[in-house]
Amino acid sequence: AMISLRQLLDHAAEHQYGVPAFNVNNLEQIQAIMQAARKTDSPVILQASAGARKYAGEPFLRKMVEAAAEMYPEIPIVMHQDHGASPSMCMQAIRSGFTSVMMDGSLMEDAKTPASYDYNVGVTSRVVEMAHAVGVSVEGELGCLGSLESGMAGEEDGSGAEGVLTHDQLLTDPQQAVDFVSRTGVDALAIAIGTSHGAYKFSRKPTGDILAIDRIKEIHARIPKTHLVMHGSSSVPQEWLAVIRDFGGDIKETYGVPVEEIQEGIRHGVRKVNIDTDIRLAMTGAMRRAMGQDRSEFDPRKFLKEATAAARDVCVDRFQAFGTAGMA
Ligand code: G3H
Ligand code: 13P
Ligand code: NA
Ligand code: ZN
Repeated sequence: AMISLRQLLDHAAEHQYGVPAFNVNNLEQIQAIMQAARKTDSPVILQASAGARKYAGEPFLRKMVEAAAEMYPEIPIVMHQDHGASPSMCMQAIRSGFTSVMMDGSLMEDAKTPASYDYNVGVTSRVVEMAHAVGVSVEGELGCLGSLESGMAGEEDGSGAEGVLTHDQLLTDPQQAVDFVSRTGVDALAIAIGTSHGAYKFSRKPTGDILAIDRIKEIHARIPKTHLVMHGSSSVPQEWLAVIRDFGGDIKETYGVPVEEIQEGIRHGVRKVNIDTDIRLAMTGAMRRAMGQDRSEFDPRKFLKEATAAARDVCVDRFQAFGTAGMA
């Protein structure tokens, strides 16, 4: 059944677990997540970015998620819009049946330029007012994702801030978070702690100077009732990087957010953990390997089946590690 983000995260807070929010664009990713959810008895958050809606088309995405709910009636499903760039984009998602929307007012409508605090409060409050009127949850974001190592937004594929960010922009201010939550009424708050979107997050295994897990504790202490959200939370599995390289891919040395650090976040109020890149890496690795190992095969289902299984295994690992397993 479809439920709102608020319903799911209230349950997660009560029972002290986190929920991975996986990005979905196509049939295979949705099937992988649902198979993993059934196997581990986990509730799911399926989230679609603007890029996903452009890729699949809004009717296909909506109908595929409906199909997931029909095939997996025992699994609670939140259908969430990831990184809404404007109130109008959030309204479109609400009309389309999403049970939760993110209004990312940390960036301007171009989804690149850092926005002022007042702009963020303004657009986020408007979305909360509209969404709550129809029972839809809202995630806001305070602070900009980006690298504390380089000071750069850290994303070259067009998702997230562009250019150089100051240290202040890269870390959510705990006192400002108190004001933001009280003025907007958001159900969940995405915070900036040094993570960035995509595969290239850290040039080494992150330590406290470049991944500010302690910041989560400071924020949670001030707004204990607000569900915190970690973006850019792929762990970038070294095993999948190796498979991609072994089968002709070119991925430079890079490190993600260790699962243990996410678990520490979950102990301090993180309830939603956004993951896209790990599924991309696993699917790409599995497809490269399948194509490399059977060069005469031309039925794409053979490759896509391997990709689905690889993505499913990533999801099973995260459901188990975050304590989501058994909570459906
Ligand atoms: O926000 C970042 C997610 O990984 C979505 O990426 O915009 O390429 O769909 P996307
Ligand atoms: P990753 O790129 O680390 O998977 O993050 C995804 C994300 O934050 C989507 O909003
Ligand atoms: Na989101
Ligand atoms: Zn994100």
